[in-house]
Order: sequence, then structure tokens, then C-alpha cells
Amino acid sequence: MISPIVSVPTGAPPSGATSLVDALEGGAVLMFPDLDFPLSPFEERFVERPFADGKAKNVNIRGEAATLKGAAGTPEEQAALRALLLRYRGFADDLIRTHLPAYLGRVTLAGTSYRPFEVDQRKLSWRRDDTRLHVDAFPSNPIGEKRILRIFRNINRDGQPRRWRVGEDFGSMAEKFLPRLPGYSPLSARLLAALRITKARRSEYDHLMLHLHDALKQDLDYQAKAPQQDVLFTPGQTWVTFSDLVMHGAMGGRYMLEQTAYLPVAAQADPERSPQRILARKLGRPLQ
Ligand code: SIN
Ligand code: FE
Repeated sequence: MISPIVSVPTGAPPSGATSLVDALEGGAVLMFPDLDFPLSPFEERFVERPFADGKAKNVNIRGEAATLKGAAGTPEEQAALRALLLRYRGFADDLIRTHLPAYLGRVTLAGTSYRPFEVDQRKLSWRRDDTRLHVDAFPSNPIGEKRILRIFRNINRDGQPRRWRVGEDFGSMAEKFLPRLPGYSPLSARLLAALRITKARRSEYDHLMLHLHDALKQDLDYQAKAPQQDVLFTPGQTWVTFSDLVMHGAMGGRYMLEQTAYLPVAAQADPERSPQRILARKLGRPLQ
């Protein structure tokens, strides 16, 4: 099954028995066509040219202090860009409050990013090439018993869509790739943490997700032939998905905002639909 895109227009009656949380946990991308997030006249400049130092992939705010990283511009412009990202964080928080109230108080908001560069113009290694279908996994930041929920918004002013591909469901993908992955070593996980290569101990789940991420991106045959569908997110659209569950690739577009959030597996409506539990079921044992 290919991940469905579920449109959620403002004011439409709730769609019967399936709640948004149910669709999301089942691997859908929720697409909100008409949420308001206006830019001020001063902020228009951020969608006219990239305010980025070009060293990192994106500009983002990090940590409690929300320190701006990777930005370019005058101090006044950088302060305004930081304020824009903070406002987007609030917008994402409101979206969760309004549309995913079951997660209220359980979700932690992490990084917020401004992505001004054209996706496919960046020359990246295969591992960092997000045009290839993948699920998200962070090499230095073990996720453990958390889910990665992401809230994206296309803020392009020239009508240019964010072009994505979405792939098949996580379970079907895992069945093909699990047999190829190297075994987990608790000893090397401890070593990576001791050497501060990882910020915490890499669990077996983290190990599997990293190797899935790499195996998927390296398999050009799979990239070309696996079940998949093109999706266009037009300017003004906002979309939300579990990017650790939904196979995706970003094929084109520039100027986007993104908020990352973490949700404990135990806070899901149905924890059995998490990649953590799907992988354990496929392996026939609990993960280490
Ligand atoms: C990704 O998470 O793979 C990138 C999404 C995007 O930049 O549109
Ligand atoms: Fe991704």
C-alpha cells in the first residue's frame, strides 16, 4: 500500500470513523490546504532570496535558547528570521492542539528549520540525498522509544510546489530490507556513546533504522521500481507526517518551513503501529 495523502480542509465535517490520529499513525500524510500563516512585509525577503550561509543544508533554531544556526543577513534580518521560526513553532503547536488533541502534552517540539534552497541543486552524498526514498533516522541523535512527527509548510512565493515522492507502507518495505541488515552490537553501541559519537546509547531500533535508511538510499533498483507516487505540495499548504514511518523523498522546490516534534511510542493511540513495534513483530522478538 502506498502512503495516502489525506486532505483536511478547514471547516469540513470530521471524516466519519477514521480520526486524523488514526490516519497519521497508519502512515498517512495529513495535508492542510488552507491554514493561515502570513508573512509580514519585512519577512517577504526571506522568500525572495536565501538568508543562509550555505554551509549547512538548512537554517534552524536549536535548544532552549532557540539559537539561530546557519543564517545570513544583517543582525536585524537574522533576528527577524529567528522570530519567524519561533512563530512557525507556535503555528505547529496550534496545529497539534487543534487537530491532534490526543497528543497534547505528550509531544515535545524540537528543531525548527527554514529551507530556502532548491532541493535537487545541492550536490550531496547518497546518504544525505533526500531525493531518494527513505525513512528519517538521525545518526548522532538516538531516538529510542520516540516517534518523529514533522510539520512542513511550503512558503514559496513564485507558485513553485514542494515536490515529494511517497513510497510503500513501512511493513512491506521492512520485509524486503530487514534480512539484509547487519546485526546489532550492544558493545559497539556503548562504545559510540562513550566516545560521544552518539548523544545517547544507540538502541537496536536506532541501529535498524540507520541501516534501513542507508540500505534504502543505496538500492537504486528499489528507488526506481518500488511502489511510489509523486505528490505536489503547493504554496500555502501545510502537511504533517510521521517521517520515521512514511517513506518519502523530496524531489524539488525551495522555501519551506519545517518543525520536528517527538512523541513517545507509549503516547500513541496505538503503539503497535509504531516502526518500533512493526520491526519487533517482523523479527519475532522484542528489540534490545
Ligand atoms: C526529508 O525529510 O527527507 C526532506 C523533506 C523536504 O525537504 O521536503
Ligand atoms: Fe526525510
